[in-house]
Amino acid sequence: MNLQKNISLKNYNTFGIDVIADRFIEINSLADLKKITTSEKDIFLLSGGSNMLLTKSIDKLVIHLNLKGIIVNDTEKQSVFVTAEAGENWHEFVLWCISQNYGGLENLSLIPGNVGTAPIQNIGAYGVEIKDTFYQLEALEIVTGKIKIFTKEECDFGYRNSVFKNELKGKYIIINVTFKLTKNKHKTNISYGAIKTYLQNNPNPSIKDISDAVIAIRKSKLPDPKKIGNSGSFFKNPVIDKNLFKKLTKNHPNIPHYIVSENEIKVPAGWLIEQCGFKGKRFGDAGVHEKQALVLVNYGNATGKEIYQLAKKIQQTVKKEFNINLEIEVNII
Ligand code: EPU
Repeated sequence: MNLQKNISLKNYNTFGIDVIADRFIEINSLADLKKITTSEKDIFLLSGGSNMLLTKSIDKLVIHLNLKGIIVNDTEKQSVFVTAEAGENWHEFVLWCISQNYGGLENLSLIPGNVGTAPIQNIGAYGVEIKDTFYQLEALEIVTGKIKIFTKEECDFGYRNSVFKNELKGKYIIINVTFKLTKNKHKTNISYGAIKTYLQNNPNPSIKDISDAVIAIRKSKLPDPKKIGNSGSFFKNPVIDKNLFKKLTKNHPNIPHYIVSENEIKVPAGWLIEQCGFKGKRFGDAGVHEKQALVLVNYGNATGKEIYQLAKKIQQTVKKEFNINLEIEVNII
């Protein structure tokens, strides 16, 4: 294991924020992970770095988890169990599943990050969430060094949420994730408006067609983190009560929305932010993406604090204009 000192994390987070890690170690095997966590408990885990905003230097030991490998357990007639190690790149893993004709993850194409961090925020897009195909995961408990299996129920998945963002935050390191995918009769989901429109001339799309559609739609709206630093949706879409929603429709009869329950309506944070005039705005190198106001961007040398200040300003304005609290989805470090 090669311990490095005082290294920049700019290339290890998709926001491209330049902060220093006092100590940094690359971990390529479970044995090394066990060894390092036996002696060092105060650690900072870095995987794909796709859901964090770094606002300060890291004085804990930074562990860059690089576990790789995919194992297939093909014993059932209709389904297949596929286990991917935490350090596998999410999108490459999705493409690999599609190449094997394993269905279920195609709507989640092109999401940045790695397999191991995907369950933490129950990644989701275009009508599908990871919980829909999730079977189980294995995680190392930092304090005891023991490996525990978590079932779907134990992960307690919610909208961009899981037990690993709440009670168990910082306590476990996810080392692999198993999905139950379809082998033949794929249960595809093309209910999401943009996908339906994209595939309107294709009544029977294959999982590859759906993945291609998702990739094209994402590319048309969302910035590529390799070109413009970002962390996807910065805020969650807020759920408001139906009385507040009714009030809003007086001035905004065409407000986009999804009904969550009898009394609860979800409204897109991107729409609220756009109405407040932030879409495409730039403050130094921190900005709001021009095609999707839910995505905050780093045009080059923004600091985490500058992006965070912009986020606060957006939250205050949305609160003032709409009386809605926007919750930050990205982990602020
Ligand atoms: N909208 C605007 N202005 C904007 C952005 C959106 O008016 O700047 C409106 C759109 O016109 C549309 C509605 O808001 O009517 C929803 O927009 P979109 O379909 O782009 O989805 P979203 O609700 O903004 C969510 C997820 C995305 C995911 C898409 C597609 C959250 C926080 N975000 O965004 O997830 O890709 O749906 O399923 O739920 C991510 O988590 O990083 C992410 C990109």
